[in-house]
Amino acid sequence: MIFESHAHYDDEEFDGDREELLASFGERGIGTVINIGASLAGSEATVRLAERYSFIYGAVGVHPSEVEELSEEGMERLRALCGHEKIVAVGETGLDYHYPEPAVSLQKEWFARQLLLAREVKLPVIIHSREAAKDTLDIMQAHRAGEIGGVVHCFSYTKETARDYLNMDFYFGIGGVITFKNAKKLKEAVQYIPMDKILLETDSPYLSPEPHRGERNSSLNLPYVAGAIAELKGISYEEVVETTERNARRLFNVTAEKR
Ligand code: NI
Repeated sequence: MIFESHAHYDDEEFDGDREELLASFGERGIGTVINIGASLAGSEATVRLAERYSFIYGAVGVHPSEVEELSEEGMERLRALCGHEKIVAVGETGLDYHYPEPAVSLQKEWFARQLLLAREVKLPVIIHSREAAKDTLDIMQAHRAGEIGGVVHCFSYTKETARDYLNMDFYFGIGGVITFKNAKKLKEAVQYIPMDKILLETDSPYLSPEPHRGERNSSLNLPYVAGAIAELKGISYEEVVETTERNARRLFNVTAEKR
């Protein structure tokens, strides 16, 4: 079944129909979901979702756009949440230079701290990197992120940058953008990345694939992403679903759950 490696079901966009939506996943081929914390409150909400649904696991972390809320106390809270049995990664964390705030120095500091946390608690890390390829790589290399392991979520850089992450043995989260007509660079990168390093993800509620671009996204749209990858790789849809599920179980150390 499809393994969704990155979604935000704690987001208020799902307040109206969260229960029904999540309840429909099993019969529609969505097997496992990693819910991703993007803030301290989101990380707490992620734990609650993971406790409530057998097929949901979680990652706890603070997104680069939200790091102004972080403090030593906040890091302590994240460290405590990492001890929960269904928390399988630290993140999302990283750098996002799309907007001028928060300051680059602050983003770098809390990214480095979350990498150190991941190393300490021995969990893989979920990296968010937007318009910040070089600085992200520099910090990851300085912290020997290859020893920590993880995934570059919503990978959106070139084949050359993909090679640098591959050298650290990282995985690549591929989502709705791969279905966009103008995603030429990303399509080249996906052709280049070995199949055993690719994970399926949506980043729900964001980044809906074609033909639902612009609408609220959910894991139910993952077949469009898997289909696009199958076409680029010249393999079957089933092989994409099976391989990406195996990859995600390996990275997050999640065995097949009972439903
Ligand atoms: Ni995200």
